[in-house]
Amino acid sequence: MTVFALHFSPTGSTKKIAERIASQMSGSFVSVDLSVQTPERHAFSPDDIAVFALPVFVGRIPAKAAEALRLCEGSGTPAVTVAVFGARAVEDALLETNDILAERGFKTLASAAFVAEHSVVRSVAAGRPDAEDLKEIDDFSRSALEKITRKDVSPPAVPGNRPYREAPSTGVAPTVSDACVKCGLCARECPAAAIPLAAPNTTDASKCFMCMRCVRICPVGARSLPDPVLAHVSGLLAKTVRGRTPNAVYL
Ligand SMILES: Cc1cc2nc3c(=O)[nH]c(=O)nc-3n(C[C@H](O)[C@H](O)[C@H](O)COP(=O)(O)O)c2cc1C
Repeated sequence: MTVFALHFSPTGSTKKIAERIASQMSGSFVSVDLSVQTPERHAFSPDDIAVFALPVFVGRIPAKAAEALRLCEGSGTPAVTVAVFGARAVEDALLETNDILAERGFKTLASAAFVAEHSVVRSVAAGRPDAEDLKEIDDFSRSALEKITRKDVSPPAVPGNRPYREAPSTGVAPTVSDACVKCGLCARECPAAAIPLAAPNTTDASKCFMCMRCVRICPVGARSLPDPVLAHVSGLLAKTVRGRTPNAVYL
């Protein structure tokens, strides 16, 4: 049996949670980055356990993440699915994940929605997952493994609606200041290949899905969201996120 932690994690929280779950299930696990520019095919045996963790973007999983999931091939492989969200809402993201994996030959036996710092407005859910969250993540990992071990194949009843919420439109991208030194790091790491290596101070807004990776990794802080976009998201979150948003598990 091999445990896999498969993650699409532009700014790192989703990866952290995927690897935490996998590490609770097995002393050694294989970590797979699904956010690479050219996603690969991955095939799994019925004896493997596949932990899939995806971030929630406007109530869905990012289209690039869905594309990467469609390249994964299970053969009755037990799956654990996790939506990582910035304290607002999960909406259809977990359902979408589980639907794709069912089509791809996985048996999803446990699902969860865990809160992490909001990657756009980092003061929202700042510091999460914290110690309390990690305990809940560890409890979930144990329960999921127990369910898989006792071969209980009942599917978890996750929230969400079909048809899913309309996918967010593109057309907006981070802006780049004169501080850009054209090191090309963002161009190499952009999951959407939206930043040309020859001109890393530009972004193809038609490809960009605002995942925030370039903003987060720029060594000189040259990339940021346009102010009106940031103000819009901050305003929305101020209205919708009150108090500590709880995690949710579905077993
Ligand atoms: C474009 C975009 C859309 C997002 N939409 C949502 C959302 O609908 N609900 C929510 O609670 N968090 C939302 N978030 C926050 C992320 O789900 C959250 O910060 C997550 O931890 C990011 O994962 P990462 O650290 O692996 O990149 C959004 C973030 C981005 C960048």
